[in-house]
Amino acid sequence: MKTRMGPGLLLLIFLLPACLAAARRETPYEKFQRQHVDTSDPWESDPTRYCNLMMPRRNMTVSICKDLNSFVHGALARITAVCGSGGTWHHGNFYYSNSPFPVTDCQTTGASRWPRCVYGGDLRSKRICVACTNGQPVHYARPSVCGGP
Ligand SMILES: *[C@@H]1O[C@H](CO)[C@@H](O)[C@H](O)[C@H]1NC(C)=O
Repeated sequence: MKTRMGPGLLLLIFLLPACLAAARRETPYEKFQRQHVDTSDPWESDPTRYCNLMMPRRNMTVSICKDLNSFVHGALARITAVCGSGGTWHHGNFYYSNSPFPVTDCQTTGASRWPRCVYGGDLRSKRICVACTNGQPVHYARPSVCGGP
């Protein structure tokens, strides 16, 4: 017995996976949040332990050990506001926050070999430098990129 698929069904079969793939792909703002934003209350006071938990949890040790990454602690609205009233334009699309945020910097140690990624962490309060697109942060930069220390 032969069945013929109508064009509607064919379209569904070919477009559905494409739509699902498109839905899964994160936007630059979502990627910024995954890599650089932690809105949860402080739950790990040791920055090194924090980094060794958070780097895998946020998928930054999947195919390589991401060498250097910073987590900004605070409400998403306050971090996003750095692109507007909470920040000062520096150059290009970079904005420097007017007030400091707690930031955990994570860096691989010499013992780190993928897939065993090992991080050291450092927590301090600093103004953050971000690149913005359409009023949303899409890239985290070292404070020095915005003229900071
Ligand atoms: C990490 O990747 C897995 C598998 O692709 C995905 O299910 C999960 O949502 C990702 N986690 C984050 C925080 O994006």
